[in-house]
Amino acid sequence: MTLPPLRIAVLASGRGSNLQALLDAIGTGVLEARIVGVFSDKPASGAIALAGARGLHGVAIRPRDCPDRAAHDEALFSEIAAVQPDLIVFAGYMRIVGAAALSRLEGRMINIHPSLLPKYPGLDTHARALAAGDAEHGASVHAVTPALDAGPLLAQVRIPLLPGDDAPALAARLLPREHALLVATATLFAQRRVRLHADHAELDGRRLAAPLQLDAANHLIGA
Ligand code: GRF
Repeated sequence: MTLPPLRIAVLASGRGSNLQALLDAIGTGVLEARIVGVFSDKPASGAIALAGARGLHGVAIRPRDCPDRAAHDEALFSEIAAVQPDLIVFAGYMRIVGAAALSRLEGRMINIHPSLLPKYPGLDTHARALAAGDAEHGASVHAVTPALDAGPLLAQVRIPLLPGDDAPALAARLLPREHALLVATATLFAQRRVRLHADHAELDGRRLAAPLQLDAANHLIGA
């Protein structure tokens, strides 16, 4: 029985390279999905420009055009709910979203974060890993909950820190691995194998005790 393509909404504030990675995976048939909307707080973002260039439904609402944070959340998340996404991918959305807005899309939201959570939630993760002298760094995909970068972990990818690394070099080396991690994780959703709960995730009906690890061939070990 073929499943309908997964309806993916992307929430982004920046250049949109994760959106591009999802589009590439859809284009090559790796990911059975459709991007049903791109949503942003920044009309001039690369993600919104990419959506326009590819003829995708794009919605940008500037916070300053709304009376307060809750109204901005409400406006943008109403637009997201309206496209009836199966999965909402937060890919560099730089605003903290209130619980009321998140509750509308519960169980359908994932975020890609450039650290090996629970280490380094928040910003400047590459510089923090370097400053700590960590042997490795990486990215995590987790379920979005009201607590920042703290939802149940789904999958991770690891890279070594190399001599001479600075934050930009580390970020640049990590980014393609983030893309592979996001695509591999989205594929599990396209196969309808994942269920997200407030405090845990399930794969094939079994509680995920630890995040799946992406291998060099871009397979999620254990999935
Ligand atoms: C990525 O590095 C992601 O891990 C972080 O923000 C960045 C988004 O990049 N949350 P892009 O806009 O998808 O290129």
